[in-house]
Amino acid sequence: MSAQDSATGSVWLIIGPGLDQNRVSAELADAFEVRYGQRCRVVNTRELFLGISAGRLLLLDQRGRELSAPRVAYARLSTPGLSTDREIMLLRHLEAMGTVLVNPISAVLSCVNKFWQLQDLAAAGLPVPDTRTHLDAPLGQLVALGVSEPCVVKSVRGHRGNQVFLASDAEMLCGVQGSLRSDFPYLLQDYVAFSHGRDLRVVVVDGEAVAVQSHQAADGRLTSNLAQGGDFTVCPGRYPHAEELAIRAAQVLGLGVAGVDLLFCPDGQFLICEVNANVSWKTHAVAVTPAILTACDRRLQRTAVPQPLPI
Ligand SMILES: Nc1ncnc2c1ncn2[C@@H]1O[C@H](COP(=O)(O)OP(=O)(O)O)[C@@H](O)[C@H]1O
Ligand SMILES: [Mg+2]
Repeated sequence: MSAQDSATGSVWLIIGPGLDQNRVSAELADAFEVRYGQRCRVVNTRELFLGISAGRLLLLDQRGRELSAPRVAYARLSTPGLSTDREIMLLRHLEAMGTVLVNPISAVLSCVNKFWQLQDLAAAGLPVPDTRTHLDAPLGQLVALGVSEPCVVKSVRGHRGNQVFLASDAEMLCGVQGSLRSDFPYLLQDYVAFSHGRDLRVVVVDGEAVAVQSHQAADGRLTSNLAQGGDFTVCPGRYPHAEELAIRAAQVLGLGVAGVDLLFCPDGQFLICEVNANVSWKTHAVAVTPAILTACDRRLQRTAVPQPLPI
């Protein structure tokens, strides 16, 4: 390893369960390899093992060989299945071994639960839809407290628009609540009618909006997610205020890389719908991968070990 390499250290791209056959993961893996060569490792979480030996934290590969923790890591972790006993445990281990995470643990955790992130965003004074949730009480009891009609219902752990729907009124919601999965709480959220079937996705990397596109539902449905058949229009610069808001949202949550969904309001303003720590993008969004590499470079430089001065 050259002096330059030992000064800048290694970078890992960590790929969590379900994301190893993914186009974005492959694009990032290629780019990391081109930029960092021998200094980078693209690693799936299933290939890593953790240990403690004589009080020292250990990181092992599949053959039981000890690995040095990277100086910097960017982890792609799918949100719905993200587990404190697996992926977060790995991130804690890395942080304890000195790794700088592009998306720190607290930021990732805030994004795992749709209500956590609203707590943080609202506390920072950023605009979010009025929302209620419940704890141990059944959803019916939350409905009984009163809901806006119609109202948007979301699982705190959903993604890709899979667990988001519009309930016309409290009666309808009471009717279906027994049929809903009860493994996670739900949010009852004000319906932003002006944004029905559309939203604005801003990908933010280190305080910069690097991809901006509006999404439109293919049919009359509420959810504009591309995974639900929605279509998109690339529109950087068309909504500068929204881009600013997305940058603020990523900053408040502490994310180096964020996908921020914004809802359109009639007065030209926006509400933050959700912030994703795990971001995907289409091939046209050519600025995202270079921006993530730059984010890694910045952290490498910040954490570079000072080299001894030549005598
Ligand atoms: N309060 C709301 N009012 C109007 N539309 C909404 C609202 N919340 C969500 N949507 C629509 O549903 C989509 C999915 O909601 P979101 O909270 O982003 O969940 P997911 O994690 O499943 O993408 C949004 O992109 C938006 O099109
Ligand atoms: Mg979304």
